[in-house]
Amino acid sequence: MLNYKYGYFSDDGKEFIITTPKTPRPWVNVISNGDYGLVISQTGSGYSWKTHAQLNRITRWEQDLIRDNWGKYIYLRDNLTGKFWSASFKPVCKTPEHYICKHGFGYTTIESLNEDILSKLTVFVPFDESVEIWKLNLINTSKTKKYIGVFTYLEWCLGVAPDWHREFHKSFIGTNFNEDLNAIFADKRLWDIPSDRGHWNTSWKYVAFHSVNLPVASFDCDKESFIGMYNDIENPIAVTTGKCGNKFGNSYDAIASLNVNVEIDPGDEKVLIFTLGATDDVEKAKEIIKKYKLLGEVDKSLEEVKTKWDEILKPLQVETPDASLNVMINNWLKYQTISCRLWGRSAYYQIGGAYGFRDQLQDSLLFLYLNPEETKKEIILHAKHQFKDGRVYHWWHPITEVGLLNEISDNRLWLPFVLIKYIEETNDFSILDEKVPFVDDENPATIYEHCVKAIDFSLKKFSERGLPLIGGGDWNDGLNAVGLDGKGESIWLGHFLYKILTDFSYIAENIKDAERANYYKNRATTLKDSINKYGWDGKWYLRATKDNGEKIGSSENEEGKIFLNAQTWAVISGVADLNRANEVMSAVENYLECEIGPLLLYPAYKKPDKFIGYLTRYAPGARENGGLYTHAGTWSIIAFAILKNADAVYRIFKKINPANPEKNIDVYCAEPYVTPGNVEGPESPLFGRAGWTWYTGSSAWLLRAVVDYILGVRATFKGLYVDPCIPSSWQSFKIKRTFRGAIYDIEILNPNGKNYGVSEVFVNGEKLINDKSSELTGVLLPLFERNTINKIKITL
Ligand code: GLC
Repeated sequence: MLNYKYGYFSDDGKEFIITTPKTPRPWVNVISNGDYGLVISQTGSGYSWKTHAQLNRITRWEQDLIRDNWGKYIYLRDNLTGKFWSASFKPVCKTPEHYICKHGFGYTTIESLNEDILSKLTVFVPFDESVEIWKLNLINTSKTKKYIGVFTYLEWCLGVAPDWHREFHKSFIGTNFNEDLNAIFADKRLWDIPSDRGHWNTSWKYVAFHSVNLPVASFDCDKESFIGMYNDIENPIAVTTGKCGNKFGNSYDAIASLNVNVEIDPGDEKVLIFTLGATDDVEKAKEIIKKYKLLGEVDKSLEEVKTKWDEILKPLQVETPDASLNVMINNWLKYQTISCRLWGRSAYYQIGGAYGFRDQLQDSLLFLYLNPEETKKEIILHAKHQFKDGRVYHWWHPITEVGLLNEISDNRLWLPFVLIKYIEETNDFSILDEKVPFVDDENPATIYEHCVKAIDFSLKKFSERGLPLIGGGDWNDGLNAVGLDGKGESIWLGHFLYKILTDFSYIAENIKDAERANYYKNRATTLKDSINKYGWDGKWYLRATKDNGEKIGSSENEEGKIFLNAQTWAVISGVADLNRANEVMSAVENYLECEIGPLLLYPAYKKPDKFIGYLTRYAPGARENGGLYTHAGTWSIIAFAILKNADAVYRIFKKINPANPEKNIDVYCAEPYVTPGNVEGPESPLFGRAGWTWYTGSSAWLLRAVVDYILGVRATFKGLYVDPCIPSSWQSFKIKRTFRGAIYDIEILNPNGKNYGVSEVFVNGEKLINDKSSELTGVLLPLFERNTINKIKITL
């Protein structure tokens, strides 16, 4: 069992069980069905949304990670003694006699024992409806009958968040109470998103509801009536007195509270079911409310959620000697990427809600292992957010389709990059013929044309020295002032583009576009030469040059002498020859790697530089300014694996792996079951503290680095290639993966304690003759019929 100071993974790895409400930071779950979603922390705090966490927030929340005291809460009150507490820890914060919070896939359960009442609150979102269910079991553990008052509490947002001008916004919310349904309904007559006829004159287009399965004793839709003037949510007047004020209408500060009184015999249990949701019309809301009054429906729906997640996560399973690797690969990295990054796009550190052009495309790489159709959908969706000159939105909002077009130079290239990975995985060249419109042109063009436009636009943006211009930044948004005058260059972008040109020319050749294939190959060759000539600093590659020609990421600089991405991608792309590749990765080990992994750059900037960008304005050691940036850190695993530096590969993996039980959790602070966006670097007083958990890029790429480069089972245009790079102490491991419709059930034996190098392969019992002339250390496996299960046994 993987045990940590504040919790542990269940034996099957599908739950993380937190044993105290007071974790060093909120440890949350991000639950989403692809449209409706919620975040819930171990204290029971959090928020809910539909489609977009910022433009369409259902409940109010403030980003205060210290107090973590905004949420949708349940108060429990002993009606004989008047004592009260919360079903979760917040907001009353009574110390419970027993407390656990289980975060699972699609649900969270909080168990708490107070005043002889054991409460079990399970919150989940059914897969196909815009609603969350709160199932509350109350068990009387005493020898006397209990009379318990139950009160819910939430504040309506109903639209754009934050609705900071509350006195303004509250005037548009209407609430009412439906006695037959035991439900509160709420709507808002203003939605401050652009309407067809301009701003500020459209209604929020949904109806929100909150219901309970038992008769309501009292209710409230007015904050003043529930809390009391100058009072607080720890001791609202409704709960201290045991009764709500039954206020509703258009004139209040809109909240929702339902109060139910239950009698529980000794040893007995009562089950309450609450719903909270938002639908297009009242009729649909009523249907959902009625359905989930039935315990059977609730339990069935929760089971469906669990089964569905099992099915989603199943197609890739590994079994290695490292239990913390297994639990992350088999379960949590996939869950984080899908539930949070692709579906919810929201979490505590960044509320988000929008699509980042490069972000969700990279995150969708994860689906290649599970269901490549989903990656394809993402490619098509992103292609729709391209302009016909080849540029793309940096980000865009679903619902309004408002986006930001800026001068950041790498975004568009992630479209061909992910397309290449999709074709390597699937061999499905037909995607190239799918037709998709542009933001500024309804006439559709093929996906091939979309990709070509992205690449060709980038090929036009070159400096006289033959290096790509950085424009308003590249992968690192914070380099946003490096090239504003159109002169600054990006070496990393050069590596990235080089890789795309070489791989995409294979695709062009394959569809008989020889002219383009040759053009891209030629451009790749000259680009490589220019990078090696002008981008080389002596011991490593520069990161960029400023508009005035000054170097960034050079030994000549006082701060930001060396940047990680310019080294890792030199290797990943093939721009560096073997000598340089080894040299730059030694520089990574010597100058960038520390206890937490390889820093994004070193030394951190201490003075803001208006010709570099906001990267230099972060506190030293924070985020991209000299911390570990997980997303980029995972690329170093890949680069070291390409160079067969197995020690570095596994050492860095362990440093990055959030579930590594050797971490000092009081320093690290964040959830052990999801990746953080970043960990503070050595120049921060908080060295080692993780933040921005559940963040984009980190989980999908960590999984990719492990599966493709440590376990070494990776998709190539020609088929599935196996080339592990593992600790010599691993005697064996297993990986089961679907590839082009067939199941590959692979077992790898390492009787001689090697780090890499395949020596013998059996495919379905028959020995595979390896091409002896090849210098490859791995093996290309045969292709199989779809739906066949194939046993592969490999000895290193
Ligand atoms: C954030 C952005 C991502 C970017 C990274 C590095 O994660 O969402 O797009 O690449 O920061 O700046």
